[in-house]
Amino acid sequence: MDSKHLYIYTIGCQMNTYDSSQIAKFLGSTGYAENNDLDSADMIVVNTCSIRQKAEQKAFSFLGRLSQLKRNKPQLIVAIGGCVAQQEGKKILSRMPFVDLVFGTHAISRLPALVRRIEKNRTRIVDIGQQERISTGDYVHATKKNADAAGVSTFVTIMRGCDNYCTYCVVPFVRGRESSRDPESIVEEIKAGVKKGIREVTLLGQNVNSYGKKEGLCSFSQLLERVNTIAGLKRIRFTTSHPKDLSDELVDAFKNIDKLCNHIHLPVQSGSTQILKRMNRKYSRDDYLEKVAGLRDKCPDIAITSDIIVGFPGETDADFEDTISLIRRVEYDGLFAFMYSDRPNAPAARFDDKIPEAVKSERLQVVLGMQKEVTMKKHLKRVGTVQEVLVEGMSKKNIDANEAASIPAGTQGIQWTGRTADNKIVNFDDCSADGEKFELKNGILAKILIKRAFPHSLWGYPVSIKTLKREGERSYAA
Ligand code: 5AD
Ligand code: SF4
Repeated sequence: MDSKHLYIYTIGCQMNTYDSSQIAKFLGSTGYAENNDLDSADMIVVNTCSIRQKAEQKAFSFLGRLSQLKRNKPQLIVAIGGCVAQQEGKKILSRMPFVDLVFGTHAISRLPALVRRIEKNRTRIVDIGQQERISTGDYVHATKKNADAAGVSTFVTIMRGCDNYCTYCVVPFVRGRESSRDPESIVEEIKAGVKKGIREVTLLGQNVNSYGKKEGLCSFSQLLERVNTIAGLKRIRFTTSHPKDLSDELVDAFKNIDKLCNHIHLPVQSGSTQILKRMNRKYSRDDYLEKVAGLRDKCPDIAITSDIIVGFPGETDADFEDTISLIRRVEYDGLFAFMYSDRPNAPAARFDDKIPEAVKSERLQVVLGMQKEVTMKKHLKRVGTVQEVLVEGMSKKNIDANEAASIPAGTQGIQWTGRTADNKIVNFDDCSADGEKFELKNGILAKILIKRAFPHSLWGYPVSIKTLKREGERSYAA
Protein backbone atom coordinates (compact mmCIF):
# COMPACT_ATOMS: atom_id res chain seq x y z
CA MET A 1 0.00 0.00 0.00
CA ASP A 2 1.25 3.49 -0.82
CA SER A 3 2.05 5.41 2.32
CA LYS A 4 -0.12 8.31 3.33
CA HIS A 5 1.49 11.76 3.36
CA LEU A 6 2.24 13.53 6.60
CA TYR A 7 3.08 17.23 6.78
CA ILE A 8 4.49 18.57 10.07
CA TYR A 9 4.72 22.28 10.79
CA THR A 10 7.00 22.92 13.76
CA ILE A 11 7.14 26.12 15.77
CA GLY A 12 9.38 26.83 18.74
CA CYS A 13 12.44 25.45 20.45
CA GLN A 14 14.78 22.55 19.80
CA MET A 15 12.64 20.40 22.04
CA ASN A 16 9.75 20.85 19.63
CA THR A 17 12.04 19.95 16.71
CA TYR A 18 12.92 16.77 18.55
CA ASP A 19 9.24 16.09 19.37
CA SER A 20 8.37 16.50 15.69
CA SER A 21 10.90 13.84 14.80
CA GLN A 22 9.23 11.58 17.35
CA ILE A 23 5.79 12.41 15.92
CA ALA A 24 7.04 11.41 12.45
CA LYS A 25 8.50 8.22 13.84
CA PHE A 26 5.36 7.16 15.74
CA LEU A 27 3.06 8.01 12.82
CA GLY A 28 5.42 6.19 10.47
CA SER A 29 4.30 3.01 12.19
CA THR A 30 0.71 3.64 11.06
CA GLY A 31 1.60 4.20 7.42
CA TYR A 32 2.30 7.94 7.29
CA ALA A 33 5.47 9.12 5.57
CA GLU A 34 6.60 12.70 6.13
CA ASN A 35 7.13 15.02 3.18
CA ASN A 36 7.15 18.75 2.54
CA ASP A 37 4.09 19.06 0.33
CA LEU A 38 1.19 20.63 2.17
CA ASP A 39 -1.26 20.15 -0.71
CA SER A 40 -0.78 16.39 -0.99
CA ALA A 41 -0.98 15.81 2.77
CA ASP A 42 -3.38 13.22 4.21
CA MET A 43 -2.55 14.42 7.69
CA ILE A 44 -1.21 17.77 8.92
CA VAL A 45 0.32 18.15 12.36
CA VAL A 46 0.96 21.60 13.78
CA ASN A 47 3.47 21.31 16.61
CA THR A 48 2.94 24.49 18.58
CA CYS A 49 4.85 26.63 21.05
CA SER A 50 3.42 28.92 23.70
CA ILE A 51 6.54 30.28 25.36
CA ARG A 52 5.76 33.81 24.15
CA GLN A 53 2.62 35.38 22.70
CA LYS A 54 4.19 35.69 19.24
CA ALA A 55 4.78 31.95 18.90
CA GLU A 56 1.18 31.24 19.81
CA GLN A 57 -0.07 33.74 17.22
CA LYS A 58 2.09 32.04 14.60
CA ALA A 59 0.36 28.72 15.29
CA PHE A 60 -3.12 30.15 15.01
CA SER A 61 -2.34 32.03 11.81
CA PHE A 62 -1.02 28.83 10.19
CA LEU A 63 -4.07 26.91 11.43
CA GLY A 64 -6.32 29.55 9.88
CA ARG A 65 -4.90 28.65 6.47
CA LEU A 66 -5.84 25.01 6.94
CA SER A 67 -9.59 25.54 7.08
CA GLN A 68 -9.79 26.02 3.29
CA LEU A 69 -7.63 22.95 2.68
CA LYS A 70 -9.92 20.86 4.82
CA ARG A 71 -13.00 22.13 2.98
CA ASN A 72 -11.49 20.94 -0.32
CA LYS A 73 -10.37 17.63 1.15
CA PRO A 74 -12.72 16.48 3.95
CA GLN A 75 -10.79 13.27 4.65
CA LEU A 76 -7.69 15.28 5.63
CA ILE A 77 -6.74 14.83 9.31
CA VAL A 78 -5.72 18.05 11.03
CA ALA A 79 -3.92 17.63 14.35
CA ILE A 80 -2.56 20.17 16.81
CA GLY A 81 0.13 19.15 19.24
CA GLY A 82 2.66 20.77 21.56
CA CYS A 83 2.38 23.48 24.17
CA VAL A 84 -0.61 25.45 22.84
CA ALA A 85 -2.56 22.20 22.46
CA GLN A 86 -1.71 21.28 26.03
CA GLN A 87 -2.75 24.70 27.26
CA GLU A 88 -5.97 25.18 25.30
CA GLY A 89 -7.22 21.57 25.07
CA LYS A 90 -10.80 21.23 23.95
CA LYS A 91 -11.23 25.00 23.51
CA ILE A 92 -9.41 24.48 20.20
CA LEU A 93 -12.06 22.02 18.98
CA SER A 94 -14.87 24.52 19.52
CA ARG A 95 -12.88 27.40 18.08
CA MET A 96 -11.66 25.47 15.02
CA PRO A 97 -14.24 23.07 13.58
CA PHE A 98 -11.77 21.70 11.00
CA VAL A 99 -9.44 20.30 13.69
CA ASP A 100 -9.69 16.54 14.30
CA LEU A 101 -7.13 15.98 17.03
CA VAL A 102 -5.65 18.01 19.88
CA PHE A 103 -2.76 16.18 21.55
CA GLY A 104 -0.65 17.39 24.44
CA THR A 105 3.07 17.25 25.13
CA HIS A 106 2.88 13.80 26.77
CA ALA A 107 0.62 12.19 24.16
CA ILE A 108 3.09 11.66 21.30
CA SER A 109 3.52 7.93 21.92
CA ARG A 110 -0.27 7.53 21.89
CA LEU A 111 -0.59 9.08 18.41
CA PRO A 112 -0.83 5.80 16.44
CA ALA A 113 -3.85 4.66 18.48
CA LEU A 114 -5.48 8.11 18.37
CA VAL A 115 -5.10 8.40 14.61
CA ARG A 116 -6.44 4.90 14.02
CA ARG A 117 -9.56 5.85 15.99
CA ILE A 118 -10.05 8.97 13.90
CA GLU A 119 -9.53 7.10 10.63
CA LYS A 120 -12.08 4.50 11.67
CA ASN A 121 -14.81 6.57 13.29
CA ARG A 122 -14.04 10.14 12.17
CA THR A 123 -14.38 11.23 15.78
CA ARG A 124 -12.73 14.36 17.09
CA ILE A 125 -10.35 13.72 20.00
CA VAL A 126 -8.58 15.70 22.72
CA ASP A 127 -5.75 13.93 24.58
CA ILE A 128 -3.89 16.22 26.94
CA GLY A 129 -3.24 13.71 29.71
CA GLN A 130 0.09 14.13 31.50
CA GLN A 131 2.17 11.62 33.44
CA GLU A 132 4.51 12.39 36.33
CA ARG A 133 7.23 10.12 34.95
CA ILE A 134 8.74 9.49 31.57
CA SER A 135 8.51 5.85 30.57
CA THR A 136 10.75 4.11 28.05
CA GLY A 137 7.85 3.70 25.61
CA ASP A 138 7.53 7.50 25.33
CA TYR A 139 10.45 7.66 22.92
CA VAL A 140 11.56 5.79 19.86
CA HIS A 141 15.12 5.84 18.64
CA ALA A 142 16.21 8.67 16.41
CA THR A 143 16.67 8.25 12.76
CA LYS A 144 18.06 10.96 10.54
CA LYS A 145 14.63 12.57 10.87
CA ASN A 146 15.62 14.81 13.74
CA ALA A 147 19.04 15.56 12.34
CA ASP A 148 19.97 18.63 10.33
CA ALA A 149 19.65 18.38 6.56
CA ALA A 150 23.08 16.83 6.23
CA GLY A 151 22.43 14.31 9.01
CA VAL A 152 25.51 15.33 10.99
CA SER A 153 24.01 16.93 14.08
CA THR A 154 20.98 15.90 16.07
CA PHE A 155 19.01 16.61 19.25
CA VAL A 156 18.15 14.09 21.92
CA THR A 157 15.76 14.93 24.75
CA ILE A 158 17.14 13.68 28.07
CA MET A 159 14.42 15.06 30.34
CA ARG A 160 11.09 16.78 30.04
CA GLY A 161 9.12 19.29 32.06
CA CYS A 162 10.30 21.79 34.63
CA ASP A 163 9.77 22.30 38.36
CA ASN A 164 11.28 25.76 38.63
CA TYR A 165 8.24 27.98 38.15
CA CYS A 166 9.92 31.15 37.00
CA THR A 167 7.06 33.63 37.31
CA TYR A 168 6.98 34.58 33.60
CA CYS A 169 7.12 31.04 32.27
CA VAL A 170 4.46 28.72 30.92
CA VAL A 171 6.69 25.64 30.61
CA PRO A 172 5.86 23.99 33.97
CA PHE A 173 2.18 24.20 33.03
CA VAL A 174 2.43 22.91 29.48
CA ARG A 175 5.30 20.43 29.76
CA GLY A 176 4.49 19.14 33.22
CA ARG A 177 6.71 17.96 36.05
CA GLU A 178 10.40 17.47 35.53
CA SER A 179 11.26 13.87 34.70
CA SER A 180 14.46 12.33 33.33
CA ARG A 181 14.95 9.54 30.83
CA ASP A 182 17.09 6.64 31.87
CA PRO A 183 20.70 6.95 30.68
CA GLU A 184 20.60 3.58 28.94
CA SER A 185 17.91 4.61 26.46
CA ILE A 186 19.63 7.97 25.81
CA VAL A 187 22.95 6.28 25.03
CA GLU A 188 21.23 3.68 22.83
CA GLU A 189 19.43 6.40 20.88
CA ILE A 190 22.67 8.31 20.26
CA LYS A 191 24.46 5.13 19.20
CA ALA A 192 21.68 4.43 16.71
CA GLY A 193 22.11 7.96 15.34
CA VAL A 194 25.89 7.59 15.05
CA LYS A 195 25.39 4.44 12.98
CA LYS A 196 23.41 6.57 10.54
CA GLY A 197 26.10 9.27 10.29
CA ILE A 198 25.41 11.53 13.28
CA ARG A 199 28.63 13.13 14.61
CA GLU A 200 27.26 15.74 17.01
CA VAL A 201 24.51 15.50 19.59
CA THR A 202 22.79 18.23 21.60
CA LEU A 203 21.27 16.90 24.82
CA LEU A 204 18.04 18.72 25.60
CA GLY A 205 16.30 19.54 28.85
CA GLN A 206 14.82 22.63 30.48
CA ASN A 207 17.43 22.38 33.20
CA VAL A 208 19.99 19.70 32.45
CA ASN A 209 21.81 20.37 35.73
CA SER A 210 19.09 18.61 37.65
CA TYR A 211 19.14 15.59 35.33
CA GLY A 212 18.44 12.34 37.15
CA LYS A 213 18.20 13.88 40.64
CA LYS A 214 14.55 13.07 41.25
CA GLU A 215 14.81 9.54 39.96
CA GLY A 216 18.18 8.81 41.56
CA LEU A 217 19.75 8.19 38.15
CA CYS A 218 23.34 9.21 37.43
CA SER A 219 24.26 12.92 37.52
CA PHE A 220 24.33 14.99 34.35
CA SER A 221 28.13 15.02 34.33
CA GLN A 222 28.14 11.22 34.61
CA LEU A 223 25.71 11.06 31.70
CA LEU A 224 28.10 13.26 29.70
CA GLU A 225 30.93 10.86 30.54
CA ARG A 226 28.90 7.94 29.23
CA VAL A 227 27.96 9.76 26.03
CA ASN A 228 31.62 10.71 25.63
CA THR A 229 32.55 7.05 25.25
CA ILE A 230 30.33 6.52 22.19
CA ALA A 231 32.67 5.62 19.34
CA GLY A 232 32.23 7.73 16.21
CA LEU A 233 30.56 10.63 18.02
CA LYS A 234 32.72 13.75 17.76
CA ARG A 235 30.95 16.48 19.64
CA ILE A 236 28.53 16.83 22.55
CA ARG A 237 26.49 19.93 23.30
CA PHE A 238 23.68 20.53 25.74
CA THR A 239 21.03 23.09 26.55
CA THR A 240 19.70 24.59 28.83
CA SER A 241 21.46 25.20 32.12
CA HIS A 242 19.79 27.05 34.98
CA PRO A 243 22.44 29.25 36.64
CA LYS A 244 21.23 28.39 40.15
CA ASP A 245 22.08 24.72 39.57
CA LEU A 246 25.35 25.05 37.68
CA SER A 247 27.54 22.65 39.67
CA ASP A 248 31.32 22.56 40.06
CA GLU A 249 31.13 19.05 38.63
CA LEU A 250 29.64 20.41 35.41
CA VAL A 251 32.16 23.26 35.23
CA ASP A 252 34.90 20.62 35.53
CA ALA A 253 33.25 18.61 32.76
CA PHE A 254 34.24 21.33 30.29
CA LYS A 255 37.85 20.57 31.12
CA ASN A 256 37.66 16.82 31.49
CA ILE A 257 35.21 15.56 28.86
CA ASP A 258 37.02 15.83 25.57
CA LYS A 259 34.01 15.74 23.22
CA LEU A 260 32.08 18.36 25.19
CA CYS A 261 32.04 21.60 23.20
CA ASN A 262 33.25 24.75 24.91
CA HIS A 263 29.92 26.53 24.83
CA ILE A 264 27.29 27.01 27.51
CA HIS A 265 23.88 28.62 27.21
CA LEU A 266 23.35 30.18 30.63
CA PRO A 267 20.21 32.34 30.54
CA VAL A 268 20.45 35.27 32.95
CA GLN A 269 17.06 36.87 32.06
CA SER A 270 17.87 40.11 33.93
CA GLY A 271 20.86 41.88 35.46
CA SER A 272 18.82 43.30 38.34
CA THR A 273 18.73 41.31 41.57
CA GLN A 274 15.36 42.77 42.40
CA ILE A 275 13.84 41.67 39.08
CA LEU A 276 15.50 38.26 39.38
CA LYS A 277 13.74 37.88 42.70
CA ARG A 278 10.38 38.77 41.18
CA MET A 279 11.12 36.29 38.39
CA ASN A 280 11.76 33.59 41.03
CA ARG A 281 15.14 32.79 39.50
CA LYS A 282 16.76 32.03 42.89
CA TYR A 283 20.11 33.70 42.14
CA SER A 284 21.29 37.29 42.38
CA ARG A 285 23.23 39.35 39.88
CA ASP A 286 26.40 38.68 41.91
CA ASP A 287 25.72 34.93 42.09
CA TYR A 288 25.44 34.87 38.31
CA LEU A 289 28.61 36.88 37.76
CA GLU A 290 30.44 34.52 40.12
CA LYS A 291 29.30 31.50 38.06
CA VAL A 292 30.55 33.17 34.89
CA ALA A 293 33.90 33.94 36.51
CA GLY A 294 34.18 30.32 37.71
CA LEU A 295 33.47 29.00 34.21
CA ARG A 296 36.02 31.30 32.61
CA ASP A 297 38.57 30.48 35.27
CA LYS A 298 38.37 26.74 34.53
CA CYS A 299 37.78 27.05 30.81
CA PRO A 300 39.13 30.39 29.53
CA ASP A 301 37.94 29.98 25.94
CA ILE A 302 34.37 28.98 26.80
CA ALA A 303 31.66 30.73 24.78
CA ILE A 304 28.72 31.91 26.89
CA THR A 305 25.31 32.76 25.47
CA SER A 306 22.20 33.91 27.26
CA ASP A 307 18.53 34.84 27.19
CA ILE A 308 17.29 38.25 28.33
CA ILE A 309 13.75 39.38 29.00
CA VAL A 310 13.22 43.13 28.76
CA GLY A 311 10.22 44.90 30.24
CA PHE A 312 9.35 42.39 32.95
CA PRO A 313 6.59 43.89 35.15
CA GLY A 314 8.06 46.54 37.43
CA GLU A 315 11.38 46.83 35.53
CA THR A 316 12.56 50.39 36.22
CA ASP A 317 15.14 52.33 34.23
CA ALA A 318 17.64 51.48 36.98
CA ASP A 319 16.81 47.75 36.71
CA PHE A 320 17.30 47.93 32.96
CA GLU A 321 20.62 49.73 33.48
CA ASP A 322 21.67 46.75 35.63
CA THR A 323 20.89 44.43 32.73
CA ILE A 324 22.87 46.61 30.35
CA SER A 325 25.87 46.75 32.66
CA LEU A 326 25.77 42.97 33.16
CA ILE A 327 25.73 42.39 29.40
CA ARG A 328 28.64 44.82 29.04
CA ARG A 329 30.55 43.00 31.75
CA VAL A 330 29.97 39.43 30.58
CA GLU A 331 30.43 40.14 26.85
CA TYR A 332 28.28 37.25 25.67
CA ASP A 333 29.07 35.33 22.51
CA GLY A 334 25.40 35.50 21.60
CA LEU A 335 22.19 36.72 23.12
CA PHE A 336 18.50 35.98 22.60
CA ALA A 337 16.49 38.93 23.83
CA PHE A 338 12.71 39.00 24.21
CA MET A 339 10.07 41.51 25.21
CA TYR A 340 8.14 40.19 28.20
CA SER A 341 4.65 38.90 27.37
CA ASP A 342 1.95 37.60 29.74
CA ARG A 343 1.41 33.84 29.58
CA PRO A 344 -1.61 31.89 30.78
CA ASN A 345 -1.18 30.57 34.36
CA ALA A 346 2.22 32.22 34.77
CA PRO A 347 2.05 34.34 37.97
CA ALA A 348 3.68 37.43 36.40
CA ALA A 349 0.56 37.84 34.24
CA ARG A 350 -1.13 39.02 37.44
CA PHE A 351 1.69 41.38 38.51
CA ASP A 352 1.08 45.13 38.56
CA ASP A 353 3.36 47.70 36.96
CA LYS A 354 3.22 46.32 33.41
CA ILE A 355 5.71 48.06 31.13
CA PRO A 356 4.33 49.85 28.04
CA GLU A 357 5.03 48.11 24.70
CA ALA A 358 6.95 51.14 23.41
CA VAL A 359 9.36 51.02 26.37
CA LYS A 360 9.85 47.27 25.97
CA SER A 361 10.58 47.72 22.31
CA GLU A 362 13.08 50.52 22.97
CA ARG A 363 14.87 48.41 25.58
CA LEU A 364 14.99 45.45 23.22
CA GLN A 365 16.67 47.58 20.55
CA VAL A 366 19.28 48.77 23.05
CA VAL A 367 20.14 45.18 24.05
CA LEU A 368 20.26 43.94 20.47
CA GLY A 369 22.40 46.89 19.37
CA MET A 370 24.91 46.29 22.16
CA GLN A 371 25.15 42.60 21.41
CA LYS A 372 25.67 43.22 17.70
CA GLU A 373 28.79 45.22 18.51
CA VAL A 374 30.16 42.61 20.91
CA THR A 375 29.51 39.76 18.48
CA MET A 376 31.27 41.61 15.67
CA LYS A 377 34.21 42.42 17.94
CA LYS A 378 34.50 38.73 18.87
CA HIS A 379 34.20 37.63 15.26
CA LEU A 380 36.91 40.07 14.15
CA LYS A 381 39.27 38.58 16.76
CA ARG A 382 38.99 35.26 14.95
CA VAL A 383 40.34 36.62 11.65
CA GLY A 384 43.76 35.08 11.09
CA THR A 385 43.12 32.15 13.42
CA VAL A 386 42.61 28.51 12.50
CA GLN A 387 39.32 27.04 13.68
CA GLU A 388 38.28 23.43 13.88
CA VAL A 389 34.93 23.13 12.12
CA LEU A 390 32.53 20.20 11.96
CA VAL A 391 31.53 20.09 8.30
CA GLU A 392 27.73 20.15 8.04
CA GLY A 393 27.28 20.38 4.30
CA MET A 394 27.55 22.39 1.14
CA SER A 395 25.64 25.57 1.45
CA LYS A 396 25.35 29.15 0.53
CA LYS A 397 22.44 29.66 2.82
CA ASN A 398 24.41 31.39 5.55
CA ILE A 399 26.06 33.93 3.27
CA ASP A 400 24.04 36.96 2.24
CA ALA A 401 24.74 39.08 -0.83
CA ASN A 402 26.85 41.65 1.05
CA GLU A 403 28.95 38.97 2.62
CA ALA A 404 29.48 37.16 -0.68
CA ALA A 405 30.65 40.43 -2.25
CA SER A 406 33.42 40.78 0.31
CA ILE A 407 34.80 37.27 -0.15
CA PRO A 408 38.02 37.36 -2.21
CA ALA A 409 37.48 36.76 -5.92
CA GLY A 410 38.56 33.39 -7.20
CA THR A 411 37.82 31.67 -3.91
CA GLN A 412 34.09 31.54 -4.33
CA GLY A 413 34.01 27.99 -5.61
CA ILE A 414 31.95 25.49 -3.73
CA GLN A 415 30.92 26.87 -0.37
CA TRP A 416 30.70 24.63 2.64
CA THR A 417 29.33 25.32 6.05
CA GLY A 418 29.87 24.13 9.60
CA ARG A 419 30.36 25.30 13.16
CA THR A 420 33.24 25.69 15.55
CA ALA A 421 33.13 23.91 18.92
CA ASP A 422 32.06 27.22 20.46
CA ASN A 423 29.16 27.37 18.02
CA LYS A 424 30.24 30.02 15.51
CA ILE A 425 28.99 29.47 11.97
CA VAL A 426 31.85 29.20 9.51
CA ASN A 427 31.41 29.17 5.75
CA PHE A 428 34.37 28.10 3.69
CA ASP A 429 35.75 27.28 0.30
CA ASP A 430 36.88 23.81 -0.72
CA CYS A 431 40.20 25.23 -1.90
CA SER A 432 43.10 26.74 0.08
CA ALA A 433 44.69 30.06 -0.93
CA ASP A 434 47.37 28.05 -2.74
CA GLY A 435 44.79 26.43 -4.95
CA GLU A 436 45.07 23.14 -3.13
CA LYS A 437 41.74 21.30 -3.40
CA PHE A 438 40.40 19.64 -0.27
CA GLU A 439 38.31 16.52 -0.10
CA LEU A 440 35.62 17.85 2.19
CA LYS A 441 32.67 15.79 3.29
CA ASN A 442 29.93 16.02 5.87
CA GLY A 443 30.84 14.98 9.38
CA ILE A 444 34.60 15.54 9.24
CA LEU A 445 36.50 18.05 11.37
CA ALA A 446 38.28 20.52 9.09
CA LYS A 447 40.86 23.17 9.95
CA ILE A 448 39.75 26.48 8.51
CA LEU A 449 41.82 29.65 8.34
CA ILE A 450 39.45 32.55 9.04
CA LYS A 451 39.77 35.41 6.57
CA ARG A 452 36.56 37.40 7.01
CA ALA A 453 34.21 38.24 9.87
CA PHE A 454 30.49 39.00 9.44
CA PRO A 455 27.76 39.76 11.96
CA HIS A 456 26.41 36.20 11.93
CA SER A 457 29.24 34.12 10.55
CA LEU A 458 32.91 33.77 9.70
CA TRP A 459 34.43 32.91 6.34
CA GLY A 460 37.67 31.22 5.39
CA TYR A 461 39.35 28.36 3.63
CA PRO A 462 40.98 25.09 4.60
CA VAL A 463 44.62 25.28 5.55
CA SER A 464 47.50 23.52 3.94
CA ILE A 465 50.95 23.49 5.55
CA LYS A 466 52.12 26.06 3.00
CA THR A 467 49.27 28.42 3.86
CA LEU A 468 49.94 28.09 7.56
CA LYS A 469 53.57 29.13 7.14
CA ARG A 470 52.81 32.07 4.89
CA GLU A 471 49.97 33.46 6.97
CA GLY A 472 52.00 33.28 10.21
CA GLU A 473 48.92 31.66 11.66
CA ARG A 474 47.89 31.93 15.29
CA SER A 475 46.40 28.56 16.04
CA TYR A 476 43.15 28.92 17.92
CA ALA A 477 41.71 25.46 17.76
CA ALA A 478 43.63 22.72 19.53
N1 5AD B 1 7.94 36.63 27.92
C1 5AD B 1 9.09 36.86 27.27
N2 5AD B 1 10.09 35.97 27.17
C2 5AD B 1 9.91 34.78 27.78
N3 5AD B 1 10.70 33.70 27.86
C3 5AD B 1 10.06 32.75 28.56
N4 5AD B 1 8.84 33.20 28.95
C4 5AD B 1 8.74 34.47 28.48
C5 5AD B 1 7.71 35.45 28.54
N5 5AD B 1 6.59 35.24 29.21
C6 5AD B 1 12.05 33.63 27.29
C7 5AD B 1 13.11 33.41 28.39
C8 5AD B 1 13.49 31.98 28.17
C9 5AD B 1 13.33 31.84 26.67
C10 5AD B 1 13.25 30.45 26.17
O1 5AD B 1 12.13 32.54 26.42
O2 5AD B 1 14.19 34.26 28.13
O3 5AD B 1 14.81 31.69 28.61
FE1 SF4 C 1 10.64 28.21 32.36
FE2 SF4 C 1 12.20 28.80 34.45
FE3 SF4 C 1 11.64 26.24 33.86
FE4 SF4 C 1 13.26 27.64 32.24
S1 SF4 C 1 13.69 27.13 34.38
S2 SF4 C 1 11.56 26.31 31.61
S3 SF4 C 1 12.37 29.70 32.35
S4 SF4 C 1 10.19 27.79 34.54
